[in-house]
Amino acid sequence: MEPQTPSTARMIDYWLGGKHHFPIDVAAAGAFEAAYRPCADIFGSVRAFSGRAVRHATAAGIDQFLVFGAGLPTRSNVHETAPGARVLYTDLDPLIVEAGRRILAGSEHTGYVHGDVTDLDSIDRADLDRVLPDWNSRPLGVVLFGLPAFFDDATLAATLDALYEAVPTGSRLLFDFDATELQDYPRALAMMGPSFHMREPTRFAALLGRWTPTPEGIVPVAHWLPDGRAEDVPDAFWGGVAVK
Ligand SMILES: C[S@@+](CC[C@H](N)C(=O)[O-])C[C@H]1O[C@@H](n2cnc3c(N)ncnc32)[C@H](O)[C@@H]1O
Repeated sequence: MEPQTPSTARMIDYWLGGKHHFPIDVAAAGAFEAAYRPCADIFGSVRAFSGRAVRHATAAGIDQFLVFGAGLPTRSNVHETAPGARVLYTDLDPLIVEAGRRILAGSEHTGYVHGDVTDLDSIDRADLDRVLPDWNSRPLGVVLFGLPAFFDDATLAATLDALYEAVPTGSRLLFDFDATELQDYPRALAMMGPSFHMREPTRFAALLGRWTPTPEGIVPVAHWLPDGRAEDVPDAFWGGVAVK
């Protein structure tokens, strides 16, 4: 059955040239682009950053990832970038979880389950132990891409602190967040709804709490350890990696 409302995860799939979206998502993506600018290059740059961040973590010995607000596990997502790793994808949206399970069917060492990043107990412990048997004994990659904008500062700080507390020392937090780019595009900003949170980098950094950013810092995603020349895109998303 076709969904009745657009999903940001499926809109990103559309912008990345995937095939797991519906006309309603394409219409929403088109309306947003009319109020802002074309978005395919921006999301391509974000996905390239996520690949570099995942490879940075695997180079540090991380071979298991817990992904929150995962969206659709395609287009160079975590398990495709780190094929030897165990990856548990989670999302709040039941339609996205269902689609994710279909996409991952037959894929080894991966799983897709319901999870609310603001409530770690929402992840079924048996699923966590099945897909990531060493999640609480060896360092883990905790992935939050495209998520912080959903939360106010207090919720985000508490969420990041709870994640820090839950994972073994040496774990990495891989993150990006919406900077203030849309401030100059009021029609596009209005489409994001009243609970969309953009942040200055210093404000985001303060919310990391005990997580320590790597020396690469918190920078526009295109400029985080670029492979060669950074993509020429607006600095709409910033990101980085932080360590416990
Ligand atoms: C903008 S999409 C990002 C998808 C993917 N991470 C990416 O970067 O392509 C945000 C996703 O976060 C999910 N989400 C929103 N609130 C959440 C929460 N509290 N816990 C977990 N997922 C959430 C949405 O359902 C959606 O799939």
